[in-house]
Amino acid sequence: MTTLLDELGIPPVGLGLWKIAPEDTAPTVVEALKEGYRHLDSACDYGNETEVGAGLAQAFEAGICRRDEVWVTSKLWNTYHDPAHVRAACLKTLSDLQLDTLDLYLVHFPIALKYVDFDTRYPPEWLYDPSAASPQMELAAVPLHATWAAMESLVDEGLVKHIGVCNYSSALIHDLMAYARIRPAMLQVELHPYLTQTSLLRTAAQYGIPVTGFSPLGASSYLELSMASEPESVLREGVVGDIAERHGKSAAQVVLRWGIQRGTAVIPKSTKATRRQENIDVFDFELSAEDMAQLSALDRGRRFNNPADFCEGAFNTFHAIYE
Ligand code: A2P
Repeated sequence: MTTLLDELGIPPVGLGLWKIAPEDTAPTVVEALKEGYRHLDSACDYGNETEVGAGLAQAFEAGICRRDEVWVTSKLWNTYHDPAHVRAACLKTLSDLQLDTLDLYLVHFPIALKYVDFDTRYPPEWLYDPSAASPQMELAAVPLHATWAAMESLVDEGLVKHIGVCNYSSALIHDLMAYARIRPAMLQVELHPYLTQTSLLRTAAQYGIPVTGFSPLGASSYLELSMASEPESVLREGVVGDIAERHGKSAAQVVLRWGIQRGTAVIPKSTKATRRQENIDVFDFELSAEDMAQLSALDRGRRFNNPADFCEGAFNTFHAIYE
């Protein structure tokens, strides 16, 4: 059966590049490409795009793969939503990645922040002026439809092949579909068995929009950020362990396979070769309908990446987007 991911041509397992330290990034990219990864999930905000570009250049030079064999996604940061800045932000990402074109460029958050120029700070992250006496996030009055029109111009110009969105709710998708001249080719949101987002996936499916799940292993990504605790790890669930044992696979492989069998792409990050190899080795087994139902039943609406929580804690600014 052809899936929406197949139609788009995006490999269902990608390597997430968030939180990879700059010094580890180029070697991680080279090794991952050697291991067979053909989908990289990058973003301006990850602060390592120059190093991703160095890794890609090294891999192309060494003949590990060709440019047309690897899918590269990047994301427009919140401070560049104003149509006046979208093209420059994209060109900066392309230059850092040493690429002529992106396979996919996503609006990172439905949050427009006041512009910070490249020379002042790059990536600018969330605070308008971190050196202020009381640093805050500062919003910019830019409607999402204006940002989308600028994203469409990038496709027209050939700078990016596809455009899409991250962290959109169903309501924002309905709205986007009402004005999009070029349809979103991807919705990227947090997805794992503790946050199954079934209604959101149905909305995306209604419009034929493929979906990528970030943080597909759940809490793991947030432990080092103190945004989750070890007992919240879905990998420790008894039912995950039982299913893993039955299939002779690891807990992580079961959770990733659940994501793939739901028809979504998954983008686990790892700087460890054994884990990366494990994460991409998920195509030689199949979860039964009962396995799938048991894993989906773990849902508890636990969103680890929620601006309503982290913006207030880390950036002194309450900013909710999901409710
Ligand atoms: P590490 O890089 O040390 O392997 P994300 O959800 O942002 O993609 O991050 C995944 C998190 O889970 C990372 O902290 C990563 O740590 C860890 N991880 C990745 N693959 C596995 C795996 N197969 N088993 C257990 N933990 C994993």
